[in-house]
Amino acid sequence: MVGTTGQSLMLEVQKQVSLQALNSFGFSSIADSYTEITEPSQLPLLIDYCQAHKLPWLLLGGGSNLVLSAHVPGVVALIKLQGVDITSLEPPYVRVRVAAGEPWHETVSWLLSQGYYGLENLALIPGAVGAAPVQNIGAYGVELKDRVTGVDVYDTLQGQFTRLSSAECQFNYRDSLFKSVEPGRYIITAVEFELFTNPDHLVLNYQALQKTCEVLAGSQVITPRHVFDAVCQLRRNKLPDPAMLGNAGSFFKNPWVSQAKYQILRQNFTDLVAYPDAGGYKLAAGWLIEACGWKGKHYEKVGVYAKQSLVLVNYGGGDREQIESLATQISDSVHAVFGIWLEPEPRYYP
Ligand code: EPU
Repeated sequence: MVGTTGQSLMLEVQKQVSLQALNSFGFSSIADSYTEITEPSQLPLLIDYCQAHKLPWLLLGGGSNLVLSAHVPGVVALIKLQGVDITSLEPPYVRVRVAAGEPWHETVSWLLSQGYYGLENLALIPGAVGAAPVQNIGAYGVELKDRVTGVDVYDTLQGQFTRLSSAECQFNYRDSLFKSVEPGRYIITAVEFELFTNPDHLVLNYQALQKTCEVLAGSQVITPRHVFDAVCQLRRNKLPDPAMLGNAGSFFKNPWVSQAKYQILRQNFTDLVAYPDAGGYKLAAGWLIEACGWKGKHYEKVGVYAKQSLVLVNYGGGDREQIESLATQISDSVHAVFGIWLEPEPRYYP
């Protein structure tokens, strides 16, 4: 137990705890110390404890964007903060504050069932709500940043709870303040979304999504429920369920290249998959990896998923070293052929 006399809130710290069920790769990993956070007020205790003992800390949500080593020093704290509050309801908008420990997909599903729309394109993304802002999760034309009004955090530098506006979070493609600007400083305790109370704000720019929705809706008007179901169907067809086959979703970001670089690539690779983006082009990293012959390849106990080359998987018994080595081999070969370095999406720890 950690906690000064007179404090009713305590942290129960366990030693040598397995994290295998807490990371979506399913890597065997042992934390020196482990605790669970069920109340925001435990966070100052946790940080004081780690600072006093000069220990590193790792906050864990769904563990779906992590590559863990076999041994994790310091304290691992699983965020189990729960609760959903409607903070304002002024149709056509509703603001909802969701605690960081709530599971993402179940939250999206519940909000839809309440008639609060806008997150259905992000259905079935593994992980917890509190991890979603870190890498600004995105899929099928919607990013988290499009729906966030504020993120509640514990600022470990100032030792205080505060709210960051969406602008302060510096969201970018698979990036944020929490990931690259000041990693480790803020602990996310809740996220506030602004959603719609009427069902006509559909984002159907993705051709495959539009087509699947049309099939599901038949002669009816497409609704957010159709979008939700279509996204689930598309994801299930292409992406492995971490409960069945360990993975961390896309392992690399889709790289951005300038117009000039794109033109050169296009001359040599006529079927290159690319989308105009911010004055240049976003390339489909999955296509680059497949073009280098990696699709479905096994390497020791890990490999490249056979239906989506952007996803690396653990066939059982794989570990961080194997994934890191495979990722490096892939990255080197993509660089050798296309002159582009791929950037990994998940975080290696430690
Ligand atoms: N492609 C291939 N071979 C492959 C994979 C993809 O040729 O093995 C080409 C195909 O032409 C395909 C295109 O790449 O049409 C795009 O593939 P996909 O629609 O699967 O999307 P993605 O760019 O590979 C991104 C996100 C996913 C998100 C989907 C849908 C990143 C890094 N990944 O993948 O996000 O679900 O779009 O919006 O931006 C995640 O981040 O974990 C994730 C799964």
